[in-house]
Amino acid sequence: MGESEILDGAIAERPREVAEHPLLAAIYDRHDALIRRHVRSDGRTLELAFGRHAHPDADVGVEAFHENSLDARDIEATTADARSLPFADDAFDTVVGRRFLHHVPPADRRAMLAEARRVLAPGGRLILLEGTPGLYRRFTKALAFRLGALGEDTDEYGHLSVDDVSGLLDAGGFETLELRRLGSPLMPLSLSKGEWSARAVSLYERTQFVRWWTLAVATPAPGVEVGTPGSAVEKRRSPSGQRHV
Ligand SMILES: C[S@@+](CC[C@H](N)C(=O)[O-])C[C@H]1O[C@@H](n2cnc3c(N)ncnc32)[C@H](O)[C@@H]1O
Repeated sequence: MGESEILDGAIAERPREVAEHPLLAAIYDRHDALIRRHVRSDGRTLELAFGRHAHPDADVGVEAFHENSLDARDIEATTADARSLPFADDAFDTVVGRRFLHHVPPADRRAMLAEARRVLAPGGRLILLEGTPGLYRRFTKALAFRLGALGEDTDEYGHLSVDDVSGLLDAGGFETLELRRLGSPLMPLSLSKGEWSARAVSLYERTQFVRWWTLAVATPAPGVEVGTPGSAVEKRRSPSGQRHV
């Protein structure tokens, strides 16, 4: 993992360069394809917290870590906080967000979803991919730290269980269309930079029985009004209304 900084409680970071890890790159391709099935191809797509890998269908991206925004290719990238989006209501038909809800304190996650809902047009799609907590993840991560394959732990706020994701979507005024578990025990091989790891892709595909990610697809529930006032983010605003990100 690269540099990271805390911005108003959010862990902003420079994630790993996906292309340097052949199996990881293949997993991103797989996730891109799964997400693409739900993207509204006739509309505008926003990706939240895209890190160093924006979905190929994203038109616009928001990212808290400034250097990631500078690197972004083929999208309009903005350095901003996903808890307070610089876009008008109903501006997008699809909002994608991968592995970012666990980068803010649990109390702020509702604000993230409320913002996603605000900028989504009626009938739009919210597509989330979040890491799932579990024994296997904990064990392999501890091992990776011990072996020096992971340099810094930026997951201090904790991952979201399938129920957490589902509960947040309900509370955020979304109707869940699909909840899917993804993950293979071969996931730790994705840390490797060796070309040989790409050969594990087909086995990775065939061994999807570990809870490592949750893919959730949702749409704004009609007639439900959800606001952010009173959220942790709102309370932390400085008197001038300025935020750090
Ligand atoms: C684990 S990385 C995931 C990046 C990318 N979505 C991916 O899957 O490769 C989490 C990203 O969320 C960004 N981030 C964290 N908090 C954020 C916030 N409040 N608003 C926007 N981006 C945020 C971080 O800077 C980091 O790039």
